[in-house]
Amino acid sequence: MTIRRFLPASLVCLSSLFALPFLACTPPANNDPPNDPPGQRLSYVQDAKPIVDHYCGDCHIKEGIAPFALSDYSQVKGAASAIRASVEAGRMPPWLPTPVGVPLRYARDMQPAHKKILLDWLQQGAEPGEAGATPRVQIPNAERAATARGDLVLDIGATYQPSTKAADDYRCFIVDPGTPASPGLPELRYLRAGEVLPDNKAIAHHVVVFEVDAAHIADAVAKDTAEAGPGYTCFGGAGVGGAQIVLAWAVGGGVNRLADNQGTPIAKGSIFVMQMHYNLANYRGVGDRTQTRLEFASTPPEYLVRYLPLLNPSGLKLKAGDADAKQVVVAPVSQILKYLRMPNVTELSITSVLPHMHMLGKTISTGLNSQTLLDIDRWQFGWQQTYSLQQPVRATSSDLLTLECHWDNSYANQPTIDGQKQMPHDVVWGEGSGDEMCVSLLGVALPRQ
Ligand code: HEC
Repeated sequence: MTIRRFLPASLVCLSSLFALPFLACTPPANNDPPNDPPGQRLSYVQDAKPIVDHYCGDCHIKEGIAPFALSDYSQVKGAASAIRASVEAGRMPPWLPTPVGVPLRYARDMQPAHKKILLDWLQQGAEPGEAGATPRVQIPNAERAATARGDLVLDIGATYQPSTKAADDYRCFIVDPGTPASPGLPELRYLRAGEVLPDNKAIAHHVVVFEVDAAHIADAVAKDTAEAGPGYTCFGGAGVGGAQIVLAWAVGGGVNRLADNQGTPIAKGSIFVMQMHYNLANYRGVGDRTQTRLEFASTPPEYLVRYLPLLNPSGLKLKAGDADAKQVVVAPVSQILKYLRMPNVTELSITSVLPHMHMLGKTISTGLNSQTLLDIDRWQFGWQQTYSLQQPVRATSSDLLTLECHWDNSYANQPTIDGQKQMPHDVVWGEGSGDEMCVSLLGVALPRQ
């Protein structure tokens, strides 16, 4: 009997260690249900506000990327039933990785205790509480990387007015750090940190920065010249050969910073292509001039961070109507190192994973041998970003990298274009929005030789 009475109390004590500081660590009074302390009414001021500010405040602000603000009581109360539905379903805050993979840095998912308080508060009637009352929920600030120094600022030089032909506009902008006489980066540099400074936060949804090597500058320039206005239309990639991703950011993604002894080499003579994804749901006629700050290491770093693309374009085939088309890619680390002309490397550590598919994607999972690194079970094209691993994972050249993608190519999952629901068709690899990809871009650290 005694044990049974004290067990719930000790659980309450444990939970107070995490996030419920207001629950007393004493045995519950006689006959009271153990998890429902008497008189405990949750309030906005004391309980819900710290949670909403912490988990929703990056995006649900005035003129933010989200369709409405959640900055004060009346806004939160007004959206109460939508909040309950989307938090319960795990749609908000947007965070795609499941717990199956390894622990990630800068994770945005809600701690279960916080989720419970928010839902309980809504359940209890979403009361405001007394203005000025001391919050009972305290959440330490999320881990954030230090801001990036702007050694080079990628600026498109003009304000771009997005095309409103579709709900999304994907646009590539060339940024040449050289001069007309001598294009491209004047010397080899090592990228240590990148920070996207979204200009029109209501539409700038995600940004991918590519390095394009000297041999392909003319191709990019030709694309740019062929279209009116700044930049050119592009979707899955930079739209030209010789392009490598050096930075990928999505709303709420923060600064992308490598460890102090690491850097991503960017070759002499390369230019940058900054791909913008504009989501136009909240577009009010205001254009955008998003910039990206790049910070370079001042001395050559001890470790190089390169991005290994795990993919197999010719093996990607989605039959029209197939609601569960699938591709599995398995490759020894050595094969990818050979492709990157690094055959002498025998050991490396994986520091980040950037999964990529297009619109029909359902799930994408990346692994090393039998270990899952990153697992996404409800792919959303709009929320792609680089995921940094909390602890680098070591791999040797004989280890097997695995990638598994699933797509829904059934009629129900087809897009509507110009008001017309599209019919499913056979889909293969390609850069267009109607094509597909299955890629995992692995950030790997190697000793600089
Ligand atoms: C990283 C940015 C971001 C964060 C953080 C975020 N949201 Fe959202 N939210 C959005 C965007 C963008 C939309 C518009 C629909 C979409 O793109 O999914 C949205 C839509 C919604 C919607 C309406 C659509 C739906 O899915 O029900 C609700 C409700 C919502 N958010 C609640 C929240 C709450 C509550 C939090 C915090 C617990 C939160 N959001 C955190 C960006 C964010």
